[in-house]
Amino acid sequence: MGRRFANILETVGNTPVVRINRLAPDGVNLFVKVEAFNPLGSVKDRLALGVIEAAEKDGSLKPGQTVIEATSGNTGIGLAMVCAAKGYPLVVTMAEPFSVERRRLMRFLGAKVIITPAALRGMGMVTKANELAATHGWFLTRQFENEANADMHSRTTAREIVEDFRDTKLDYWVTGYGTGGTLKGVARVLAKEMPNTKIVVCEPADASMLSSGEGQQRNPDGSPAAGHPAFKPHPMQGWAPDFIPKLTADAVDSGVLHKILRIAGPDALRCSKDLALKEGIFVGITAGATLAGALQVCADAPKGANILAMLPDTGERYLSTPLFADVPADMTEEELAISRSTPTAQMPPPT
Ligand SMILES: Cc1ncc(COP(=O)(O)O)c(C=O)c1O
Repeated sequence: MGRRFANILETVGNTPVVRINRLAPDGVNLFVKVEAFNPLGSVKDRLALGVIEAAEKDGSLKPGQTVIEATSGNTGIGLAMVCAAKGYPLVVTMAEPFSVERRRLMRFLGAKVIITPAALRGMGMVTKANELAATHGWFLTRQFENEANADMHSRTTAREIVEDFRDTKLDYWVTGYGTGGTLKGVARVLAKEMPNTKIVVCEPADASMLSSGEGQQRNPDGSPAAGHPAFKPHPMQGWAPDFIPKLTADAVDSGVLHKILRIAGPDALRCSKDLALKEGIFVGITAGATLAGALQVCADAPKGANILAMLPDTGERYLSTPLFADVPADMTEEELAISRSTPTAQMPPPT
C-alpha cells in the first residue's frame, strides 16, 4: 500500500534509530534517535500534538479557542504546526535570548510571538503566558506540568524504542531534559518493560540543578514559584530552564534514574559539529550535549553494550547561535586557493 497521510500531524513520531559509526569507540554499539525527522524538526512536535489532542478530548480546549504557551522555541514551532493544521489561533511567549529564526518560523506558521526581557529568564516568559491566559481566557498548554506531554512520550517515543530494540537488548538510554516530558514518559515504560536498561540523564554543567540535590519551590499547581539557585545561563537552548519542571522532578523522584551527567557547553558544541562532520547527522546543541553524555557512557560501558541517545532537533534552528559562530559566509583562504586553481569564474578581489 502507498504511504499516504490524511494530514501532516499523522507524520509526527516514528523517528529513525541510526548507528553512530565513526564517533563511537570500538567494542560498544552507539545509536541515536533522530527527532529532527519530525515534520517541524524536533521532539516537541510530539508534545504539541499530545497536549492539544488531550485537551480536545477532555473539553478543556474549545473549537476556535486561542492557545498560548511559554516556549524557548521548539514547542512553539510544534504548536504552530498543530494549531495551523487544526485551526486554532496561537500566541507564544518567548525570552529574548532565544534564536531569532525560531521567532520568525513561528510567525511564518501564523503564531503571534510575544518577547519577554532576557533579565527575567525562563520565569519571565512563563509568568507572562499565565497572565495573558487568565486575562483573555486562552488555553494554556502548560508544557512543564502537563501530564499529556509525558503520556504522549509513553505512547509514542517509548513504544518506538521498545520495538526497535525488541530483537536485542538496550543497556543504556541517554537523554536530557527541557520539560522532562521525554524523560518521564519514556523512563516509566522502560523501567517496566526493559528493566535492564539503565536510564542516564544529562544536564548542563552550568545549570546542574538535578545534581545539586536542592529541591524546587513550587506553586500548588506544580509550576515553579521561583528560579532554582543552581541555575546559570548555558548554551543548550531547550534544556534546563531556570527551574526544575514538575515532569522532570517526577522522573527523578520515581527512582528509576541510573545516573545524572553534567555536560560542559563546549563539549555540546563540539559533539554537534562532530555529528555533522563525521556522521553526516545535522542536529542542534542539545543533541550534541546528549551525544557528549552518551560518549561518557560508552567509555564505562561493558563490551558489546547497546546505547541509545536522543537527538532532540535539527541543526537548522541554530544558524544565528554560537554553533555556527566559526562558520564563515565568505570564502576562506583555502576555498580561494581552490577557486584560483582554474582560470574561469573567479570572484573579483574584495574592494
Ligand atoms: C532543543 C531541545 N532539546 C531537548 C529538549 C527536551 O525535551 P523535553 O521537553 O521532552 O524534556 C527540548 C525541549 O524542551 C528542546 O527544545
